[in-house]
Amino acid sequence: MPVLNWIGKEAVVNHDKEVPFRLLKKIKAHSIGETSQNLIIHGDNLEALKALMPYYQGKIKCIYIDPPYNTGNEGWVYNDKVNSPKIKKWLGKVVGGEAEDLCRHDKWLCMMYPRLKLLRDLLSEDGVIFVSIDDNENYNLRQLMNDIFGEDNYIQELIWHSKYTVSNDAKFFSRQHEYILCYSKNISFVKVECAVPRTEEANDRYANSDNDSRGPWKATPLHAKSGKEENNFEYTFKNGIKWKPPKGRFHRFSFETLQKLDVDDRIWFGKDLKSTPSVKTFLSELSLKMKSGSIIPFSIGGHTHKANEQLADLMDKGVFQNPKSVDLIKLLTSMSTDSDDIILDSFAGSGTTGQAVTELNNDQNSNRKFILIEIEDDVAKDITAERVKRVIQKYNYKDGFEYCELDKSLFNEDGQIEEECSFEQLATYIYFTETNTNLDKKAIDKNLIGDYNETEFYLLFKDKGRNILNKDFLKKISKNSKKKVIYADKCIIDDKTLNKHKIQFKQIPYEVKVY
Ligand SMILES: C[S@@+](CC[C@H](N)C(=O)[O-])C[C@H]1O[C@@H](n2cnc3c(N)ncnc32)[C@H](O)[C@@H]1O
Repeated sequence: MPVLNWIGKEAVVNHDKEVPFRLLKKIKAHSIGETSQNLIIHGDNLEALKALMPYYQGKIKCIYIDPPYNTGNEGWVYNDKVNSPKIKKWLGKVVGGEAEDLCRHDKWLCMMYPRLKLLRDLLSEDGVIFVSIDDNENYNLRQLMNDIFGEDNYIQELIWHSKYTVSNDAKFFSRQHEYILCYSKNISFVKVECAVPRTEEANDRYANSDNDSRGPWKATPLHAKSGKEENNFEYTFKNGIKWKPPKGRFHRFSFETLQKLDVDDRIWFGKDLKSTPSVKTFLSELSLKMKSGSIIPFSIGGHTHKANEQLADLMDKGVFQNPKSVDLIKLLTSMSTDSDDIILDSFAGSGTTGQAVTELNNDQNSNRKFILIEIEDDVAKDITAERVKRVIQKYNYKDGFEYCELDKSLFNEDGQIEEECSFEQLATYIYFTETNTNLDKKAIDKNLIGDYNETEFYLLFKDKGRNILNKDFLKKISKNSKKKVIYADKCIIDDKTLNKHKIQFKQIPYEVKVY
């Protein structure tokens, strides 16, 4: 398979591992609802995604992202602290347009690569990711996605018919569409319901030329392209007509099924009884949905004009350029998630995904959750969060959300655990680095933080310097035969006793793994 190469690639392939692990701090004043599991995070998504890992690795069912398209007009800046001289000189400079910035595609690829890697790790085995993009980076994104998610996990390139007017001043064609690339984490587990509401146009293809009491129907010939030659029997219908598939064609149904269809008056021979026999499918028996095509029309996905109106309905006109339509995100998230699933948007912008998920919950009485990440301070607080807050209040929806800032790194400059780190935060982090799974907070029982693969994990982390693994603590741990890993500042028990109780002591902070 051809592999995409670009300037700086070797410096970013493992950059997701080098990003420091930062804590999340809840800002009560910007949150609404007390116990909501929805989350809006203000910060760079590279660090925010990493901060989410101990809580959400493998748990996100659907990711929708709408990253900068690299048009040359967005004013986006490459700012990742990658330790490479080639990359350092890009820092803090706005990425320019096609003719003026020869590294613009390299910068975009360097920015996207580690983020997509983290997003992949957050996705559940049966999860899917949708990435909006346009012609500027579509061809690079496809290769990047193949690289990270695997070619086999490609699902579809969707086309969103985003603009209903044409620009007469366009140099060549007036572009009216955008792309949405859809990949899975593991194609064999995915269940995306690629269905949309039936349209009147599709229903109009059903007629009732014989006034069947079951209503309008559509006929499909009884022969098919493939099958087995030896099964090409001649069939005699109850009206005496004999029929056998023509040469090169095969029976669509078995003898028994044909018999049932015939008895049920579902075979159509044409008004003059001379047409190729076909089977009737009744409109009344179809579901209210039909297969979705790969082109998403306005009638289903809205368009950019509608998206702006939807935003202006809640916020001041023009507060945010190029939002997506709520209809589009509702469509993608409803196809790929069920109630209780989590949806993540790490380039949240005006918060369309938050509104879409909230509305979907209201329409379907479901309990989907969203996580939104936005880097710009004035956008995250005043637009992303404010929009979701207004939509909840305007329609009296039951949802709320927690608003978080990225806090200090877990390890401070001296390599010590940050003072503000809570017991639960450190427990979650340690359990994740030990087991590569997420901690169930409800399962924490005092110092016992979790149990995995016949090993119990304990954490002593209260007052600095007083977290000592001693004989008193030994009396508190369970007496079962499982191995025990105990994190503490200090251990004053001899090795023989530790071995006897199958205890492995790990000293904080030195033996807390850097993730
Ligand atoms: C194209 S907009 C998304 C619009 C959004 N889909 C909507 O409907 O409003 C991209 C957003 O991603 C944000 N962004 C860019 N780089 C980011 C980063 N590294 N971390 C988090 N957000 C980022 C930008 O500030 C911008 O608001």
